[in-house]
Amino acid sequence: MPNREIKNSRAVVTGASSGIGRAIALELAKQGCKVVCLARREDRLQALAKEIESLGGDAVCVAGDITDAAVRANGLAAAQANFGGLDILINNAGVGAIGPFETAAPDRVRTLMEVNFFSLVEMTRAALPLLKRGRRPTIVNISSILGRRAAPHNSEYSASKFAVHGFSEALRAELAKSGVGVLVVSPGTTETEFFDRYIEKTGAPQWPKHGAVTAEYVARATVRAIRRGSHEITPYFWGKFLVLLNRLSPWLVDQIMARYA
Ligand SMILES: NC(=O)c1ccc[n+]([C@@H]2O[C@H](COP(=O)([O-])OP(=O)(O)OC[C@H]3O[C@@H](n4cnc5c(N)ncnc54)[C@H](OP(=O)(O)O)[C@@H]3O)[C@@H](O)[C@H]2O)c1
Repeated sequence: MPNREIKNSRAVVTGASSGIGRAIALELAKQGCKVVCLARREDRLQALAKEIESLGGDAVCVAGDITDAAVRANGLAAAQANFGGLDILINNAGVGAIGPFETAAPDRVRTLMEVNFFSLVEMTRAALPLLKRGRRPTIVNISSILGRRAAPHNSEYSASKFAVHGFSEALRAELAKSGVGVLVVSPGTTETEFFDRYIEKTGAPQWPKHGAVTAEYVARATVRAIRRGSHEITPYFWGKFLVLLNRLSPWLVDQIMARYA
Protein backbone atom coordinates (compact mmCIF):
# COMPACT_ATOMS: atom_id res chain seq x y z
CA MET A 1 0.00 0.00 0.00
CA PRO A 2 1.37 3.50 -0.79
CA ASN A 3 2.41 5.82 2.00
CA ARG A 4 -0.47 7.22 3.98
CA GLU A 5 -1.28 10.89 3.29
CA ILE A 6 -1.14 13.08 6.42
CA LYS A 7 -2.49 16.19 4.70
CA ASN A 8 -6.16 16.80 5.54
CA SER A 9 -6.20 14.00 8.12
CA ARG A 10 -7.88 14.63 11.46
CA ALA A 11 -6.14 13.74 14.72
CA VAL A 12 -6.68 13.77 18.47
CA VAL A 13 -3.45 14.02 20.50
CA THR A 14 -3.66 13.38 24.25
CA GLY A 15 -0.99 14.94 26.46
CA ALA A 16 -0.42 17.68 23.90
CA SER A 17 0.54 20.40 26.40
CA SER A 18 4.23 19.45 26.54
CA GLY A 19 7.00 17.13 25.41
CA ILE A 20 6.37 14.36 22.89
CA GLY A 21 2.62 15.00 22.55
CA ARG A 22 3.16 18.69 21.83
CA ALA A 23 5.86 17.88 19.29
CA ILE A 24 3.66 15.26 17.55
CA ALA A 25 0.72 17.70 17.37
CA LEU A 26 3.01 20.31 15.78
CA GLU A 27 4.58 17.84 13.35
CA LEU A 28 1.16 16.57 12.25
CA ALA A 29 -0.08 20.15 11.81
CA LYS A 30 3.02 21.10 9.78
CA GLN A 31 2.14 18.24 7.43
CA GLY A 32 -1.43 19.53 6.99
CA CYS A 33 -3.27 17.47 9.62
CA LYS A 34 -6.03 19.09 11.71
CA VAL A 35 -5.46 18.47 15.39
CA VAL A 36 -7.48 18.29 18.60
CA CYS A 37 -5.04 18.96 21.47
CA LEU A 38 -6.03 17.47 24.82
CA ALA A 39 -4.38 17.87 28.26
CA ARG A 40 -5.06 19.51 31.63
CA ARG A 41 -2.98 22.72 31.25
CA GLU A 42 -5.22 24.90 29.14
CA ASP A 43 -2.77 27.83 28.83
CA ARG A 44 -0.21 25.48 27.24
CA LEU A 45 -2.83 24.13 24.84
CA GLN A 46 -3.91 27.64 23.81
CA ALA A 47 -0.28 28.60 23.12
CA LEU A 48 0.14 25.45 21.00
CA ALA A 49 -3.07 26.14 19.06
CA LYS A 50 -1.84 29.69 18.34
CA GLU A 51 1.48 28.34 17.11
CA ILE A 52 -0.29 25.84 14.84
CA GLU A 53 -2.60 28.54 13.48
CA SER A 54 0.38 30.83 12.83
CA LEU A 55 1.75 28.05 10.61
CA GLY A 56 -1.53 28.01 8.69
CA GLY A 57 -2.86 24.88 10.46
CA ASP A 58 -6.07 24.01 12.28
CA ALA A 59 -6.14 23.19 16.00
CA VAL A 60 -8.80 22.88 18.69
CA CYS A 61 -8.07 22.65 22.43
CA VAL A 62 -9.87 20.40 24.89
CA ALA A 63 -8.74 20.93 28.49
CA GLY A 64 -9.25 18.22 31.07
CA ASP A 65 -8.06 15.08 32.77
CA ILE A 66 -7.75 12.04 30.48
CA THR A 67 -8.89 9.76 33.31
CA ASP A 68 -12.33 11.41 33.09
CA ALA A 69 -14.67 9.70 30.58
CA ALA A 70 -16.43 13.01 29.85
CA VAL A 71 -13.10 14.64 28.89
CA ARG A 72 -12.25 11.74 26.57
CA ALA A 73 -15.70 12.06 24.98
CA ASN A 74 -15.19 15.84 24.60
CA GLY A 75 -11.92 15.27 22.77
CA LEU A 76 -13.56 12.93 20.27
CA ALA A 77 -16.66 15.12 19.90
CA ALA A 78 -14.36 18.08 19.10
CA ALA A 79 -12.82 16.13 16.20
CA GLN A 80 -16.28 15.27 14.86
CA ALA A 81 -17.72 18.77 15.32
CA ASN A 82 -14.74 20.77 14.03
CA PHE A 83 -13.18 18.50 11.45
CA GLY A 84 -16.01 16.12 10.51
CA GLY A 85 -14.35 12.95 11.84
CA LEU A 86 -11.22 11.25 13.09
CA ASP A 87 -8.39 9.44 11.28
CA ILE A 88 -5.51 9.37 13.79
CA LEU A 89 -5.69 8.85 17.56
CA ILE A 90 -2.46 9.55 19.45
CA ASN A 91 -2.68 8.09 22.96
CA ASN A 92 0.30 9.88 24.47
CA ALA A 93 -0.72 11.29 27.90
CA GLY A 94 1.39 9.66 30.57
CA VAL A 95 3.04 10.04 33.96
CA GLY A 96 5.94 8.37 35.73
CA ALA A 97 7.04 7.47 39.25
CA ILE A 98 10.41 6.24 40.39
CA GLY A 99 11.60 4.41 43.47
CA PRO A 100 11.56 0.93 45.03
CA PHE A 101 8.32 -1.04 44.92
CA GLU A 102 8.54 -2.37 48.47
CA THR A 103 8.08 0.97 50.20
CA ALA A 104 5.61 2.47 47.72
CA ALA A 105 1.98 3.00 48.68
CA PRO A 106 -0.66 1.13 46.62
CA ASP A 107 -1.91 4.46 45.20
CA ARG A 108 1.18 4.79 43.06
CA VAL A 109 0.48 1.81 40.82
CA ARG A 110 -3.23 2.71 40.70
CA THR A 111 -2.49 6.22 39.38
CA LEU A 112 0.05 5.03 36.83
CA MET A 113 -2.28 2.33 35.51
CA GLU A 114 -5.20 4.78 35.45
CA VAL A 115 -3.38 7.40 33.35
CA ASN A 116 -0.97 5.30 31.28
CA PHE A 117 -3.14 2.25 30.62
CA PHE A 118 -6.86 2.43 31.49
CA SER A 119 -7.29 5.91 29.98
CA LEU A 120 -5.52 4.79 26.80
CA VAL A 121 -7.72 1.69 26.59
CA GLU A 122 -10.93 3.61 27.20
CA MET A 123 -9.99 6.41 24.80
CA THR A 124 -9.41 3.73 22.16
CA ARG A 125 -12.75 2.05 22.91
CA ALA A 126 -14.60 5.37 22.63
CA ALA A 127 -12.75 6.37 19.44
CA LEU A 128 -13.22 3.15 17.47
CA PRO A 129 -16.66 3.93 15.98
CA LEU A 130 -15.31 7.28 14.68
CA LEU A 131 -12.01 5.81 13.50
CA LYS A 132 -13.77 3.06 11.55
CA ARG A 133 -15.48 5.77 9.50
CA GLY A 134 -12.14 7.61 9.04
CA ARG A 135 -9.60 7.59 6.20
CA ARG A 136 -6.69 5.12 6.69
CA PRO A 137 -7.40 5.16 10.43
CA THR A 138 -4.48 4.68 12.81
CA ILE A 139 -4.18 4.34 16.57
CA VAL A 140 -0.79 5.39 17.95
CA ASN A 141 0.02 4.25 21.47
CA ILE A 142 3.00 5.92 23.09
CA SER A 143 4.60 3.28 25.27
CA SER A 144 8.24 3.23 26.39
CA ILE A 145 11.40 1.22 26.07
CA LEU A 146 10.51 0.18 29.64
CA GLY A 147 7.49 -1.53 28.11
CA ARG A 148 9.92 -3.85 26.29
CA ARG A 149 12.47 -4.37 29.08
CA ALA A 150 11.64 -3.37 32.64
CA ALA A 151 14.11 -1.61 34.92
CA PRO A 152 14.56 -1.37 38.70
CA HIS A 153 12.74 1.44 40.54
CA ASN A 154 10.32 1.55 37.62
CA SER A 155 8.21 -1.51 38.44
CA GLU A 156 4.78 0.15 38.25
CA TYR A 157 5.65 2.36 35.28
CA SER A 158 7.16 -0.59 33.38
CA ALA A 159 4.05 -2.65 34.15
CA SER A 160 1.79 0.07 32.79
CA LYS A 161 3.80 0.23 29.56
CA PHE A 162 4.03 -3.58 29.18
CA ALA A 163 0.24 -3.51 29.44
CA VAL A 164 0.12 -0.99 26.58
CA HIS A 165 2.22 -3.34 24.43
CA GLY A 166 0.02 -6.36 25.15
CA PHE A 167 -3.18 -4.45 24.50
CA SER A 168 -1.83 -2.95 21.27
CA GLU A 169 -0.57 -6.25 19.88
CA ALA A 170 -3.91 -7.99 20.39
CA LEU A 171 -5.87 -5.02 19.06
CA ARG A 172 -3.72 -4.79 15.91
CA ALA A 173 -4.69 -8.36 15.00
CA GLU A 174 -8.36 -7.83 15.91
CA LEU A 175 -8.63 -4.68 13.80
CA ALA A 176 -6.54 -5.82 10.83
CA LYS A 177 -9.59 -6.74 8.71
CA SER A 178 -11.34 -3.46 9.48
CA GLY A 179 -8.33 -1.46 8.21
CA VAL A 180 -7.56 0.32 11.51
CA GLY A 181 -3.79 0.29 12.06
CA VAL A 182 -2.10 0.17 15.46
CA LEU A 183 1.37 1.68 15.91
CA VAL A 184 3.30 1.39 19.18
CA VAL A 185 6.04 3.93 19.82
CA SER A 186 8.62 2.99 22.45
CA PRO A 187 10.70 6.08 23.20
CA GLY A 188 13.89 5.92 25.24
CA THR A 189 15.31 8.84 27.19
CA THR A 190 13.76 11.94 25.66
CA GLU A 191 14.30 15.55 26.79
CA THR A 192 10.89 16.56 28.18
CA GLU A 193 9.33 17.66 31.47
CA PHE A 194 8.53 14.02 32.23
CA PHE A 195 11.34 13.55 34.77
CA ASP A 196 10.46 16.77 36.65
CA ARG A 197 6.82 15.75 36.89
CA TYR A 198 7.12 12.29 38.43
CA ILE A 199 4.13 11.74 40.70
CA GLU A 200 6.63 10.30 43.22
CA LYS A 201 10.40 10.02 43.43
CA THR A 202 11.78 7.89 46.28
CA GLY A 203 14.98 6.63 44.66
CA ALA A 204 16.54 6.18 41.25
CA PRO A 205 19.08 3.88 39.60
CA GLN A 206 22.41 5.61 38.88
CA TRP A 207 22.62 4.63 35.21
CA PRO A 208 25.83 5.21 33.30
CA LYS A 209 25.70 8.43 31.28
CA HIS A 210 23.56 8.04 28.18
CA GLY A 211 22.31 10.63 25.75
CA ALA A 212 18.78 11.84 25.25
CA VAL A 213 16.92 12.61 22.05
CA THR A 214 14.58 15.55 21.56
CA ALA A 215 10.78 15.34 21.56
CA GLU A 216 10.90 16.67 17.98
CA TYR A 217 13.06 13.70 16.95
CA VAL A 218 10.51 11.27 18.43
CA ALA A 219 7.67 13.21 16.78
CA ARG A 220 9.26 13.11 13.32
CA ALA A 221 9.91 9.37 13.67
CA THR A 222 6.32 8.82 14.83
CA VAL A 223 4.73 10.71 11.95
CA ARG A 224 7.02 8.94 9.48
CA ALA A 225 5.90 5.61 10.97
CA ILE A 226 2.22 6.62 10.65
CA ARG A 227 2.81 7.40 6.97
CA ARG A 228 4.46 4.02 6.42
CA GLY A 229 1.86 2.04 8.35
CA SER A 230 4.55 0.65 10.70
CA HIS A 231 3.57 -1.54 13.64
CA GLU A 232 6.24 -0.51 16.10
CA ILE A 233 9.17 1.86 16.40
CA THR A 234 11.86 2.50 19.01
CA PRO A 235 13.19 6.00 18.34
CA TYR A 236 16.28 5.66 20.53
CA PHE A 237 19.55 3.89 19.69
CA TRP A 238 20.28 2.57 23.20
CA GLY A 239 16.69 1.39 23.47
CA LYS A 240 17.09 -0.74 20.36
CA PHE A 241 20.37 -2.06 21.72
CA LEU A 242 18.80 -2.94 25.08
CA VAL A 243 15.91 -4.82 23.46
CA LEU A 244 18.30 -6.76 21.23
CA LEU A 245 20.60 -7.64 24.13
CA ASN A 246 17.61 -8.70 26.21
CA ARG A 247 16.44 -10.99 23.41
CA LEU A 248 19.89 -12.55 23.07
CA SER A 249 20.56 -12.89 26.80
CA PRO A 250 17.83 -11.94 29.27
CA TRP A 251 20.04 -13.40 32.02
CA LEU A 252 22.84 -10.94 31.23
CA VAL A 253 20.45 -7.98 31.21
CA ASP A 254 19.00 -9.18 34.53
CA GLN A 255 22.55 -9.11 35.98
CA ILE A 256 23.16 -5.60 34.64
CA MET A 257 19.79 -4.33 35.94
CA ALA A 258 20.44 -5.84 39.39
CA ARG A 259 23.69 -3.86 39.66
CA TYR A 260 21.72 -0.62 39.40
CA ALA A 261 18.86 -1.54 41.75
N1 LIG B 1 10.46 11.49 28.18
C1 LIG B 1 10.86 10.25 28.12
O1 LIG B 1 12.06 9.95 28.29
C2 LIG B 1 9.87 9.15 27.79
C3 LIG B 1 10.39 7.87 27.55
C4 LIG B 1 9.53 6.85 27.24
C5 LIG B 1 8.17 7.08 27.16
N2 LIG B 1 7.66 8.33 27.41
C6 LIG B 1 6.21 8.49 27.31
O2 LIG B 1 5.92 9.57 26.44
C7 LIG B 1 4.65 10.12 26.77
C8 LIG B 1 4.77 11.63 26.83
O3 LIG B 1 5.66 11.98 27.89
P1 LIG B 1 6.68 13.20 27.78
O4 LIG B 1 8.04 12.66 27.92
O5 LIG B 1 6.35 14.05 26.62
O6 LIG B 1 6.37 13.94 29.18
P2 LIG B 1 5.63 15.33 29.52
O7 LIG B 1 6.31 16.45 28.82
O8 LIG B 1 5.51 15.35 30.99
O9 LIG B 1 4.21 15.14 28.84
C9 LIG B 1 3.18 14.38 29.42
C10 LIG B 1 1.87 14.87 28.84
O10 LIG B 1 0.81 14.06 29.38
C11 LIG B 1 -0.20 14.92 29.89
N3 LIG B 1 -0.90 14.30 31.01
C12 LIG B 1 -0.37 13.72 32.11
N4 LIG B 1 -1.35 13.31 32.93
C13 LIG B 1 -2.51 13.64 32.33
C14 LIG B 1 -3.88 13.52 32.68
N5 LIG B 1 -4.26 12.93 33.84
N6 LIG B 1 -4.84 14.00 31.86
C15 LIG B 1 -4.47 14.59 30.70
N7 LIG B 1 -3.19 14.74 30.29
C16 LIG B 1 -2.24 14.28 31.11
C17 LIG B 1 0.55 16.19 30.33
O11 LIG B 1 -0.33 17.31 30.29
P3 LIG B 1 -1.00 18.07 31.53
O12 LIG B 1 -0.07 17.92 32.69
O13 LIG B 1 -1.16 19.47 31.03
O14 LIG B 1 -2.31 17.37 31.72
C18 LIG B 1 1.57 16.31 29.22
O15 LIG B 1 1.02 16.97 28.11
C19 LIG B 1 4.24 9.47 28.09
O16 LIG B 1 3.28 8.45 27.84
C20 LIG B 1 5.53 8.86 28.61
O17 LIG B 1 5.28 7.73 29.41
C21 LIG B 1 8.49 9.36 27.71
